[in-house]
Amino acid sequence: MNLNTIKLADCLDYLRDIPDESVDVTFADPPFNLKKKYSSYWDNLDITQYVEWCSLWLREMVRVTKPSGSIFVHNIPKWLSYYCHVLNEIADFRHWISWEAIGTPLGKTLLPTHYGILFYAKDYSQLKFYDVRYPHHRCRKCNTLRKDYGGKKNRLHPFGPLVSDVWTDLHRIRHNKRRDRHPCQLPIPLLERVILMSTDEGDTVLDPFMGTGTTAVAARRLGRNFVGTDIDADYVRLASDHVSLIQPLSKIGSSWVSLYLDQVATIRHDDWDELQHYFDVPDPPQAIDTESIKYSHGKIKAIEDAIYLEERKKPAQTSFVDLKSDKIEAATDWPY
Ligand SMILES: C[S@@+](CC[C@H](N)C(=O)[O-])C[C@H]1O[C@@H](n2cnc3c(N)ncnc32)[C@H](O)[C@@H]1O
Repeated sequence: MNLNTIKLADCLDYLRDIPDESVDVTFADPPFNLKKKYSSYWDNLDITQYVEWCSLWLREMVRVTKPSGSIFVHNIPKWLSYYCHVLNEIADFRHWISWEAIGTPLGKTLLPTHYGILFYAKDYSQLKFYDVRYPHHRCRKCNTLRKDYGGKKNRLHPFGPLVSDVWTDLHRIRHNKRRDRHPCQLPIPLLERVILMSTDEGDTVLDPFMGTGTTAVAARRLGRNFVGTDIDADYVRLASDHVSLIQPLSKIGSSWVSLYLDQVATIRHDDWDELQHYFDVPDPPQAIDTESIKYSHGKIKAIEDAIYLEERKKPAQTSFVDLKSDKIEAATDWPY
C-alpha cells in the first residue's frame, strides 16, 4: 500500500489487495445510483444489483480497518437503510449522522433535507474517538445565541457545543467557482470533522471512491495520510492535482483545526486548553450569549490565505502529478 496516492482502479480490485486491519479509518461516498452523470460508469443499477455490489465493498472496508478504527459511509437514507443490515453483522453501530442538505421532492415524498453518514466502530471496546466542538449558532442580525440555554449561560463552552449527530453548520458547495467538474463533490470541512474525531496525526484514511479527492485533501491538511481509488481517470488526475497543492497546515499553534470561510469550523474538545490562548473570550462567561469569541492573532481568513500561499509555494508530490503553473492558477479558486 503506497501511502498518499490515489489509484486508478475499481474499488473492489483495489480493496482486495489491502491487507487486513491496515488502515485507521475508512470513508466511502459511493455513487448513489440516482442516474447521475458520471463519465465512467452507469449510475442506474437495479436495486438488488446495487445493494449486492455495496455489500461487497462494505465488507472489505470493515476488513481493512484496524480494530481501533472507524468506518464511515455517506449516502441518501434509502441506501443507508440497506447498508445497516450488512454493517450491523460485522461492526459496531455508533451513529447515523444526519447532515442537513436540501433535496428535491420527487412526488409522494416529504422534502428530503438530509444525507446520512453511517458511523461504525470496527470494535467499540477498542475505538479511537475524540469529542469535537463547533462554533455557537448565532442570530445574524443581533449575534445572540440561537439556542436558549436559560440560566446555564455561565456554564457554556466559550468556543461552542459538542458536535451532535445532526450537522446543520456545514453546507454543500453551491458556487461553481468553488467546486470542480464533479456532480457530487463533498465539502472539505465535512471530511475534516470526521477525521478530527476519529484519527490522530500520522494515521491513514482510506477512501475507495475518491472523486475530486476531498478525503485526501482533508487528510493531508490535517497531517494524516490517505490512500484510495477511483474508477475514473479524469477524477484520479483531478484529485491528485488537488492534493499535490496541499500542505499539512490546518492548525492553530500545535492543534489541528478545521477552517471554513472565516471561521474555525471544528476543534477537538481536548485542544481548547491550548486554543483558548489564541482567542479573546468574553468576560464574564455568560456574556457569550451576545458576544462571540474573537481570534486574536489576525483574521481566520488570513490563516486560510496563508495556507494557500504555502500550498502554492511548497507543492507536495504525489505519484501522479507534477505541479504545473496553470494548475497553481486553477487552485486559487479552490476549495472554498
Ligand atoms: C459520489 S462520488 C465521490 C465524490 C467524492 N466524495 C468527492 O467529494 O469528490 C462517487 C465516485 O465513485 C467513483 N466510482 C464509481 N464506481 C466505482 C468503482 N467501481 N470503483 C471505484 N470508484 C468508483 C466515481 O467515479 C465517483 O467519482
